[in-house]
Amino acid sequence: MDGGEIILGIETSCDETSAAVVQGGRRLLANVISSQVNLHALYGGVVPELASRRHVELIVPAVAEALKEAGLSFADLDAVAVTCGPGLVGALLVGLSYAKAVALARGVPLVGVHHTAAHIYANLLVHPELEPPFLSLVVSGGHTSLVYVRAPGAYDLLGQTVDDAAGEALDKIARALGLGYPGGPAIERLAREGDPEALPLPRAVVREHPLDFSFSGLKTAVLNYLNHLKQRGEEPNKADVAASLQRAVMEVLVERALTAAELTGARRLVLAGGVAANGELRTRLAEQAARANLQVLAPPPALCTDNAAMVACAGYFYLQHGLTAPLSLNAFANLPLGAEQGWGKRGEKESARGKK
Ligand code: KG4
Ligand code: ZN
Repeated sequence: MDGGEIILGIETSCDETSAAVVQGGRRLLANVISSQVNLHALYGGVVPELASRRHVELIVPAVAEALKEAGLSFADLDAVAVTCGPGLVGALLVGLSYAKAVALARGVPLVGVHHTAAHIYANLLVHPELEPPFLSLVVSGGHTSLVYVRAPGAYDLLGQTVDDAAGEALDKIARALGLGYPGGPAIERLAREGDPEALPLPRAVVREHPLDFSFSGLKTAVLNYLNHLKQRGEEPNKADVAASLQRAVMEVLVERALTAAELTGARRLVLAGGVAANGELRTRLAEQAARANLQVLAPPPALCTDNAAMVACAGYFYLQHGLTAPLSLNAFANLPLGAEQGWGKRGEKESARGKK
C-alpha cells in the first residue's frame, strides 16, 4: 500500500494493554491504550497475576478497536510487532501469544521489540527527520539508562541504574506519602506548591562509572526523613518533600545526560520512558542542553508512558533492517538491549543466553 508498510503493534509488558497501527513508521493510524491503573491502584502497585488476567480480557477488544479506528482489517497488515521483554513474563506472554497468532494466521512477519527500544522509537514516530545515530536517556518505572543508538537494533548501553529506576523511586515515595499509584504524576503536581530546596537530599555518583545512576540512597533518605517525623508525631510538608525529591532526581538525570553527550560527542539527545513526561525534567534538560549546543527531542507526554504506537514504529524500522523473529520467540523478564539482532538468524535461544 502507498505510504509504507502497515504494522500492528502490541504492548502488554506491564499494566497497559495497548494496540496500535502505524504506517511507514511515522504515520500513526490508531493507538488504543486500555489502562489497568485503577485496578492496581487498589494495591499501591502492579500485581503481576492480576495484570496478566486483565491483559487476556483486554487484548482482543483493544486490537479490534485499533483496526476500526485505522479503518483497516487484519488483511491490510504487513507485519506484527510486539514487546517480548523485559517486563512481567505472564503479562508479556499474553501480547506475544496474540501477536504470534496474527502473524501465523495472516502469514506476515513477526517482529520482537525490546521495551526500552520501543520507548526510544516513540521519538522517531513524532520527529520525521530523526534517524540514528543519536543519544537517548530512557527513564521509566523499570529502567534508567543512557543509550547510544547506532542503527535500528544496534545499541550501546553507556550507563544504567545500579539499583532502583528513577520512576520506581518516585513511585515508592509517593506511596509512603499516600499519593497513590502511579506516583510520578502525583509528585509532579504536588511539587508545584513546594520548595525544591527544603530538604537536603543526596545526589549519588557511582564511583568509576560516571554514566551510571543510583537512586536507592535518595529513596532511603526520604523514607528515613518521613519515619523520623512520624516518630516525633509530626506531619511532613508533602509539597516540600515532593519538590525536593523531584529536583534531586531530575538534576541527576540532566547532569548525567549532558556528561554522556560530552563523552560521546553526540549533538542530539532524545528523551524516552514514562518519567520523560515530567515537566521539570523536560524544561531543565532543554535549558541546559541549549547552553551546551545539544538538540533535545522528546515525545509528547502521552507517548512517553507505555503504548503500542512506539512498538509498531520500532517494528517498521526493524522490518526494514530484516530484524524479524521466529514464531518460537519467547517472552523474557530480563532481556539485553539489542537482542533483536540475534533473532531470525540464529533463533531466540541466542538472545536467551544473553539474559542478565
Ligand atoms: O514507561 P512507563 O509507562 O512504564 C515502564 O516502562 O516502567 O513508566 C512509568 C513510570 C512510573 O514510575 C511513573 O510514576 C512515571 O513513569 N511517570 C512520571 C510521570 N508520568 C509517569 N514520573 C514523573 N513525572 C511524570 N509526569
Ligand atoms: Zn515502559
